[in-house]
Amino acid sequence: MTVMRSVVLGCGSYLPTRTLTNAELARQVDTNDEWIVQRTGIRERHIAAPGEVTSDLATKAAQAALADAKVGAETIDLIVLATSTPDQTFPATAVTVQASLGITVGAAFDLQAVCSGFVYAMSIADSLLKSGGHKRALVIGAETFSRILDWKDRTTCVLFGDGAGAVVLEAQSQPGTREDRGVLTAHLRSDGRHKSKLYVDGGPSSTQTVGLLRMEGRAVFKHAVANVTDVVFDAFKATGYTGADLNWFVPHQANKRIIDDSAHKLGIAPEKVVITVDKHGNTSAASVPLALDVARKDGRIKQGDLVMLEAMGGGFTWGSVLLRW
Ligand code: ACO
Repeated sequence: MTVMRSVVLGCGSYLPTRTLTNAELARQVDTNDEWIVQRTGIRERHIAAPGEVTSDLATKAAQAALADAKVGAETIDLIVLATSTPDQTFPATAVTVQASLGITVGAAFDLQAVCSGFVYAMSIADSLLKSGGHKRALVIGAETFSRILDWKDRTTCVLFGDGAGAVVLEAQSQPGTREDRGVLTAHLRSDGRHKSKLYVDGGPSSTQTVGLLRMEGRAVFKHAVANVTDVVFDAFKATGYTGADLNWFVPHQANKRIIDDSAHKLGIAPEKVVITVDKHGNTSAASVPLALDVARKDGRIKQGDLVMLEAMGGGFTWGSVLLRW
């Protein structure tokens, strides 16, 4: 019996040209390379140029994904863009990307789930494609977190970076077997009781300002491993796969210690874990598609591979997506 699946046709990413190293940061706040590397695994991050906005990054990542998929922008009838750093309060950054790509059909909207945004966006795009309402989607994670950082706060400013990643997803009829390509299962969670542990202290309805990121790092860390392992185990339960069956684990890139602990608890061998946090820092909703693109372009992820995506972010929100590439 055939089933509809959302199959990845291609992926792409974009990083601003300017890199900011730990050594440079140590000249601005009371920190050092050794502390940052030991506690987080981060060595450098990319920072958007003055005037370069989230939609610029997102458009470049989307163009790269369309080229990789070998399909034209005019064939896209859905754009789901995950971001917490939109160009403007409204309209959605997704419609700016839609216009930049010359797309005049279908729907485009933003999705806000902080660092879990791309995983949420994949799940929502998958549902819309499987419903038959849309045929081919761009799913994008794009952020300019450098614009909402308190550059005097060493406990947060060393952690984040800017960037964008995108995939093209297409609704395809698959045979309904273990070999099916596409999204196999998706699990989304949130718990708003933790919203004060990681938030931005401004907004249009409260302060009429953009605000800056505030985080209780230790409290977030404590929940992160438990939450992401739970939601990945949900994906295993739904499909019968285990950590040993995965070809690649592409986690949210917040902190190498969280990634290592999670992979260990999930029974995933270290050589199957895609790590980019050293070079990108935490790019929030962009981190998973950026990591996917790195592992695809360097030849690690191949067609037919079983790939687990997961993320956890402010809210808290967290989720997993299991797909066969
Ligand atoms: N350089 C040097 N020292 C520092 C720095 C710094 N950049 N930042 C903090 N310190 C100091 C602290 O002041 C503290 O000093 P004290 O002991 O004298 O008080 C000491 O280092 C230890 O601080 P902790 O906060 O306990 O350090 P920890 O090991 O927990 O690491 C970190 C901090 C990296 C933030 C970690 O807690 C973490 O990664 N948390 C999770 C973040 C995360 O996963 N976010 C994901 C979601 S992000 C999103 O949704 C947007």
